[in-house]
Amino acid sequence: MKKLIDKLFKENYLNGQELLELLNNITEESKEYLMQKAHETSINTYSNKVFMRGLIEFTNYCKRNCVYCGIRASNKNADRYRLSLEEILYVCDMGDRLGYKTFVLQGGEDDYYTDDKIVEIVSAIKEKHPNSAVTLSIGEKSYEAYKKYYDAGADRYLLRHETASRELYKKLHPNASFENRIQCLWNLKDIGYQVGSGFMVQLPGQTNEDYVKDLLFLKKLSPHMVGIGPFISHKDTPLRKEKNGTVEVTTTLLSIIRLLLPDVLLPATTALGTIDPLGREKGLKAGANVVMPNLSPISVRKKYSLYDGKICTGDEAAECRKCIEGRINKAGFTVDLSRGDNINWRRK
Ligand code: SAM
Ligand code: FES
Repeated sequence: MKKLIDKLFKENYLNGQELLELLNNITEESKEYLMQKAHETSINTYSNKVFMRGLIEFTNYCKRNCVYCGIRASNKNADRYRLSLEEILYVCDMGDRLGYKTFVLQGGEDDYYTDDKIVEIVSAIKEKHPNSAVTLSIGEKSYEAYKKYYDAGADRYLLRHETASRELYKKLHPNASFENRIQCLWNLKDIGYQVGSGFMVQLPGQTNEDYVKDLLFLKKLSPHMVGIGPFISHKDTPLRKEKNGTVEVTTTLLSIIRLLLPDVLLPATTALGTIDPLGREKGLKAGANVVMPNLSPISVRKKYSLYDGKICTGDEAAECRKCIEGRINKAGFTVDLSRGDNINWRRK
């Protein structure tokens, strides 16, 4: 194991067979070594900084039906909401006062927000906060739409590929195209965005062979950011009875991703903090270097319910900000409130 980990550390690459061998045979001792190497790698690239992003969940309407997701179209129990342009700007102003220099606008695929509306929102945020980065995470759109948002000033786009196993993808995403999702990621890169992809961990039926596909796909795409988090069941979805993912498997994969893509921005996700009270700290120690505290108005937090038990739904943004900073410091890292761009990215 140690030889494989050393190779991954030095060459930032393992082939499919080697990755599978690593995943199949990892022990507590080799995991410790893997995490140490991943931590060393992130320190070499970004020192011990943790970048902060303010997350704004601006709509929980969604036309899609991802079977794991609590805001899927056919969940009749979801209490739907949308934020207006004014509400979004209000939240950004508050985020700015708290020191955030990145605003992540995330939502379901909601056709109420036409391309023109998204352009209006992005332009308005950029006009008020020209030195802040705007990240969009609103699903699959056409090349032209992505280009319009980019030209309006959007800097980054998060679109997890969810799973690189075509078969598993098909099972989990009725009436959706795996090929289109992957094409969207290449389109976003082509346009010039800082692109974030990623996948869910321990989905029902997911195997180590599937993770190898995820890891090799990420290596090929070479995104600027990678978001991975454990699958967590939601009571109003077809997967309500399935088991949740674990911190152990998620942190192993975080460390491997850090070694495969040494410069990548890698969040310790809210989902990781949900399955374990110290999940995000464990993620940071495994090579993650981003956190995304919630900026959404308290009145809507509980409604953006992707999975059960989501943390931080009752805290004011200022409390969240303080809480997360304390946790980051206690784990031995420092908060960095700059834009936190990937070191290899320049706007085209
Ligand atoms: N609609 C956009 C999209 O498709 O990219 C962004 C919103 S979507 C809710 C954000 C992410 O939440 C997804 O990429 C998925 O990985 C994650 N997610 C959804 N349901 C989840 C669950 N039950 N457990 C863990 N993560 C989940
Ligand atoms: Fe659309 Fe989850 S099904 S965001």
